[in-house]
Amino acid sequence: MTTTPENHAPENQALPPDILANFYSPDFIRDPYETLEKLRERTSAFYEPVMGRTVLLGWDDIETALRDRTYSRDPRNAAEDTLMARLRGQDERPGTSILFLDPPDHTRLRGLVNKAFTPRAVEAMRPRIEAIAEDLLDKVEGKPTWDLIEAFAAPLPTIVIAEMLGVDPKDQPQFKAWSDNLVKGLDPFISPEDQQRLDESRAALDAYLRAQIAGRRAQPRDDLLSALIVAEDEGHKLTEDELLGTVSLLLVAGNVTTTDLIGNGVHALLRHPDQKDLLRDDPSLIVNAVEEMLRYDSPVVLTGRIVMDDEVVTGCPVKKGHSLTPLLAAANHDPAVHADPHRFDIAREDPKHQSFGGGAHYCLGAPLARAEAQVAVTTLLRRFPNLHLAGPEPERRLLIGFRGFLSLPVAVD
Ligand code: HEM
Repeated sequence: MTTTPENHAPENQALPPDILANFYSPDFIRDPYETLEKLRERTSAFYEPVMGRTVLLGWDDIETALRDRTYSRDPRNAAEDTLMARLRGQDERPGTSILFLDPPDHTRLRGLVNKAFTPRAVEAMRPRIEAIAEDLLDKVEGKPTWDLIEAFAAPLPTIVIAEMLGVDPKDQPQFKAWSDNLVKGLDPFISPEDQQRLDESRAALDAYLRAQIAGRRAQPRDDLLSALIVAEDEGHKLTEDELLGTVSLLLVAGNVTTTDLIGNGVHALLRHPDQKDLLRDDPSLIVNAVEEMLRYDSPVVLTGRIVMDDEVVTGCPVKKGHSLTPLLAAANHDPAVHADPHRFDIAREDPKHQSFGGGAHYCLGAPLARAEAQVAVTTLLRRFPNLHLAGPEPERRLLIGFRGFLSLPVAVD
């Protein structure tokens, strides 16, 4: 994949203007797949000047890029006017979030977080996730129509992570509000008003967490926050800043994404009633169904890497410090990998996808996200076997890089 570039003019691989015009349109955000197909016919990688990045479309190229250990995730390595440099302003405590670190710090921090956030801790949560799902659905029982996002898909992951961390239930609504504001930090075009809300929420969450951490240091409990505080590897522990960075990341990385997995997944089922009936009549299909939901309509559309030397990536010359954007959603619909990729088929054989990224940064929360979506969809279909969409096509959230619905009105009759 890597050769010496003959010239360093990424504009040579510029996107055709007709497609560029579409790339940031609400239509593209609503349905990127048609445009991605047109692009794929012309090229497998191109330079995109609006955000300053080279975009990759093919499954194999994306897999290789995600695993390439020479690439960086640390925005401090990003050249000016590139996508990863735009995220630098959001990194209030540089060097404390595993999402934006390279080895050896990444390896050390991720190892410490892994000691607390284990697959066993996630599996132990399953009965609680079921109880939370039932409680949320109790509240809409008897209503003819309701919003699946507001009533179910949004609160579920926040309550789950708040309970895992050990947040007092009475503080959970506040916790959710902070979390909703923090996620805007992943928007490279954040508005000044949202930035202000984000700054205020971050300060409030930090103060809240500092008090919680002090309490747990004095008196540890059986929760994730205490486990993070005591986690130790070869004499290392998380510093106070790293603890704050990690908890904020678990909130931001885990909430909107899992909400969108449940929202997009249920939307796909309700748009394909034969698939919904199939799953309702055979709930054992749920594991495969959630993988197909992740593949068919990925909640995270892209991730990023920084190229650390001038090189040619998939035919595109890329300069040192410039951003690569593996388009995970394009990989998931690559016809070289999946037959009939735009078909939603919960019984698809091997619905593999790259929705959790890959390599050293592969999503740490994947087991939790999967458990939550499996429980949420199974419980929903058991409680409301005749669920269907209410009203016209629901409205998508216009946050670049993420795909989900602002609201998803559903009906039961
Ligand atoms: C459907 C839900 C989710 C999706 C689609 C998703 C997707 C992703 C993606 C694409 C990455 C970047 C991987 C890369 O660049 O190679 C990532 C990283 C991460 N995710 Fe998730 N995620 C989800 C849920 C969660 C949850 C529930 C948590 C935790 C509560 C979580 C925690 C993290 C963390 C900590 C990282 C950083 C890992 C690292 O850089 O080493 N995610 N996720």
